Amino acid sequence: MAGAKYFLETFGCQMNILDSQLVEGQLRARGMTPVGNYRDADVILFNTCSVRQHAEDKVFSRLGQIKGFKQSRPATIVGVIGCMAERVKQNLFVRAPHLNLICGPGELSQLPTLLDQVWERREQVAALAGSQARRARVPRHAREDDRLEALDLSRSPDVGGSVLQSYLRVQRGCDKFCTYCVVPFVRGPERSRPPDNIVAEARRLVGFGCREITLLGQTVNSYVYEEDGRAVRFAKLLERVHEVAGIDRIRFVTSYPADWEEDIFRVMRDYPRIMPYLHIPAQSGSDRVLKAMRRNYTAGSYLKLMDTARKYVPDIALAGDFIVGFCGETEEDFQRTVDLVRRVQYEGLFIFKYSPRPGTKADRIGDDDVPHDVKTLRNNELLAIQSEISHRRKQVLIGREVEILVEGPSKAARKAQGETSSQQRTRGKHSPTFSSRSGPQIRPTTDTGKPTIQLVGRTPGDLMAVFDAPPDHIGAVVKVYVESASAQTLFGRVTKIVSPARSAEGIAAH
Ligand code: 5AD
Ligand code: SF4
Repeated sequence: MAGAKYFLETFGCQMNILDSQLVEGQLRARGMTPVGNYRDADVILFNTCSVRQHAEDKVFSRLGQIKGFKQSRPATIVGVIGCMAERVKQNLFVRAPHLNLICGPGELSQLPTLLDQVWERREQVAALAGSQARRARVPRHAREDDRLEALDLSRSPDVGGSVLQSYLRVQRGCDKFCTYCVVPFVRGPERSRPPDNIVAEARRLVGFGCREITLLGQTVNSYVYEEDGRAVRFAKLLERVHEVAGIDRIRFVTSYPADWEEDIFRVMRDYPRIMPYLHIPAQSGSDRVLKAMRRNYTAGSYLKLMDTARKYVPDIALAGDFIVGFCGETEEDFQRTVDLVRRVQYEGLFIFKYSPRPGTKADRIGDDDVPHDVKTLRNNELLAIQSEISHRRKQVLIGREVEILVEGPSKAARKAQGETSSQQRTRGKHSPTFSSRSGPQIRPTTDTGKPTIQLVGRTPGDLMAVFDAPPDHIGAVVKVYVESASAQTLFGRVTKIVSPARSAEGIAAH
C-alpha cells in the first residue's frame, strides 16, 4: 500500500497512544503517509478504548460520521483497532457494515498484512486474540509476545507525537480482574517485558532525542521478570532504566496499591531522575465498595501507603482515579471517598462515573443501581473538592522556582500558528490541554533580544506551567519563577536555563 494516505484517530489511555505510535511506524515504514482529515485518506483507522461505554459510543458516532464518505469512495479502507475491536468482535461488522477491518490490541503487528488483504480481496478481515488469549496462555503468548516485542522494538523517531517525552511499555495486560474493569478481557494476561529489551528501547529513545520516559503498565509496579533464575522486580527495573545516560526524567504509570513494595519508594528517594510523581488509583474510600470492586486493600492501608510515600519523598505529587456510583454505592460510601480525597491531598484526580462493562463480574452479579444524576452529582462534588485542593496546593508555589522540561508552544500559540484540531488530537494525553490566556503569537523580546512565544512544560510533579520564552527553549530544562496559578496551571517566567535543548550532535555524543 505504498503511497496510500492514512488517517488515525486515537481514543483512550497512554497505552493506546503508544500503540498508535507503533502502528504509525509500521505504516510509514511501508511508504504510507499521514493526513489530518479523514476525507483525504485511503485508510481510516480508529484506535479505540472500551473502558467505559462513553468511549465506545464516541467511536460508533465517528463510524456514523464517515459512512457517507465511505459510500462515495468505497475503496477507502475503514478499520477499528484496539480494545473495542477485541471486546465487540465481529458484532462491529453488524453494527457498522461499512467497516473493513478489526484488529485487537494484541494483534497490531499483523495490521499491515490485514490492510493488504482488504486491499487485494475486498473482504472484511478480523485479527482478534479471542477467548484463547486467556485459555492457552503459555504457548500462545510465547509466540504472540515475540511479535509484539518486535513491534515495540521497531520504534522510529518522532512518529505520531513528540519524542522528547516518550512512553515505554514494560508490561502488557492485567491479571487483577477488578470487578468493574474490562481491561483483563481485552488486553489479556499480565506479562512483563524482558528488562534488557526495555533498557535497549530506552537507549534508542535517547538516541532519537528523548529526555523523559514514562514507563507504562496497567499495574506497573507489579512488574516482575525471571532472569537467570532471579526475579527482576519493579524497583530493580527502575534502577536499570535510571542508568541509561541521557534520560533526565523517568515516570511510571499506573500503580496498583495492593502490590506496592517499599523498595520502590527507596529507589524514588535515592535516584534523582525518577520524578516525585505517583499515579496510584484508590477507586473508592469505602472498604465495602473496595471489597465489591475486588481491589485487595482497604482505605486505611491505602492511606498508610500514601503517608509512607510522603515520608520517603516529601515533595511527591500524588494523582488518583476514583469511580463514583459503583453498584450499591450509598451516600455514606461516597462520603468515605470524600474523606479519603481530603486526607490524601492529591495534586490531581481523574474521576469516572461507573459504567457497566459486559462480561465483567460487576455487570454479571452487581446492580448498576445508582441513578445517573446521582453519579453526576457525586462526580461534580468530588471535582469541586479536588479543584479547591489543586488550587490551594498550586498557590504555595507562587514566588518559588520550579524546574520545567519545555515541551513546546502552548495550545493558544499552536492555534495562532494554524495547527488544526486533528493535529492537536494526535498529540495525546501528555499534550497541553489547558485553556490559557491567549495573546499574540510572537511577543516582543526577552533580555536576550530574541522574540518569544507562549510555551508550556511540566514540573517534576507533572504540573503544567505556561511562560513566554524564545522557541529555542523547546526541549530545554529551565527554571521558571511562578508568578500566579490557577487550579490547573502555573504561570511564570524563565529565570535560568538548566540544560539547553540538545542538538543532534549532542544527542549522538551521549
Ligand atoms: N466504569 C468507570 N470507570 C472505570 N474505570 C475502569 N473501568 C471503569 C468502569 N467500568 C476507571 C478506573 C481506572 C481508569 C483507567 O478508568 O478508575 O483506574
Ligand atoms: Fe482494570 Fe483493575 Fe487491571 Fe487496573 S488493575 S487495568 S482497574 S483490572
